[in-house]
Amino acid sequence: MSDQTFKAYVVDETDENVFVRNIKSRSLTDLPDGGVLVKVHYSSLNYKDALSATGNKGVTKNFPHTPGVDASGVVEESSDDRFSIGQEVIVHGYDLGCNTSGGFGEYIRVPADWVVRLPSGLSLRESMIYGTAGYTAAYSVLRLQEFGVNPDMGEILVTGATGGVGSVAVAILAKSGYQVVASTGKADQEEFLLNLGAKEVISREDSKDESGRPLLRGRWAGAVDTVGGEILATAIKSTKKLGVVTCCGNVASAELPINVYPFILRGVSLVGIDSQDSPMKLRQQIWDKISNEWKLDQLEQLTTEITLHELDSNIELILQGKQRGRVVINLSK
Ligand SMILES: NC(=O)c1ccc[n+]([C@@H]2O[C@H](COP(=O)([O-])OP(=O)(O)OC[C@H]3O[C@@H](n4cnc5c(N)ncnc54)[C@H](OP(=O)(O)O)[C@@H]3O)[C@@H](O)[C@H]2O)c1
Repeated sequence: MSDQTFKAYVVDETDENVFVRNIKSRSLTDLPDGGVLVKVHYSSLNYKDALSATGNKGVTKNFPHTPGVDASGVVEESSDDRFSIGQEVIVHGYDLGCNTSGGFGEYIRVPADWVVRLPSGLSLRESMIYGTAGYTAAYSVLRLQEFGVNPDMGEILVTGATGGVGSVAVAILAKSGYQVVASTGKADQEEFLLNLGAKEVISREDSKDESGRPLLRGRWAGAVDTVGGEILATAIKSTKKLGVVTCCGNVASAELPINVYPFILRGVSLVGIDSQDSPMKLRQQIWDKISNEWKLDQLEQLTTEITLHELDSNIELILQGKQRGRVVINLSK
């Protein structure tokens, strides 16, 4: 195995349990054995990466570690005949960036079963504008559709709407003909959300009912929730008969303060979204949609491109809920 070195963002744990982050030189021999070696061209920043980078042991148990749940790049070695040298690929989820060295380094080595061929119609950079967050947004919209929510049924609520998952969900839903109502804590980002296709923007406060009432006026045909807690509970209680709510995140809270009435009196469905372990067939289906009918015109408006050197400040922003849209990391700079 080559002992070639490469640049990576490395999180170390000190003896005092403090987590320090530096850009370091690592060797290909530090990466796991076997599978597919990918030279990473782009990665992206997700909320989970910020948790890994700050020592959240629920995400990453062992340090030193290189986070990055997303990577796109070119195959440099493969022990599996499904992939050949020079092929452009995407890797996201599974254990990448959790306890397997991730996309915040110039190289990753992963099992071939984790690797998705880059679909035609999408560049390596565009694939990382979507990344795990965009994939999760697309997965949520797919589930709404599979549960029968059509554009003519009424408004769709998206919570945490300026975030990575939320902003892509707003844009995909709008492009698919849905009337999207975007809920945000960022009063100054109304124009950003309207440009993505939202027809109305509401405040985070107005998305949270703390009256304790078991049911509220049914407004939503569906909802894509990215935050959890009272906001998710309010979305479910405000969903019309036979409406569908997807749940993928917990930035507000992991709790769900609700009772059974929306489910047994209105037939509302709550659908869980787990992108990390979604099966390969589903991954290919979703990436195919992303590169075709869900390819967005506003990709650049959504994107901030950074280098590894700018990760620290962007990790702080995402932890404070202040990030907007998607952050793409260019590994060649
Ligand atoms: N299940 C899965 O497969 C999966 C995949 C990807 C992500 N996730 C999860 O989904 C969530 C969103 O991920 P992301 O990448 O979109 O993160 P993000 O870019 O940080 O977006 C989260 C957004 O939520 C809103 N928010 C932040 N703090 C909040 C609070 N305390 N109360 C209410 N709203 C708050 C903010 O939007 P506004 O200011 O616009 O309100 C923020 O931009 C995270 O919990 C993440 O772990 C899950």
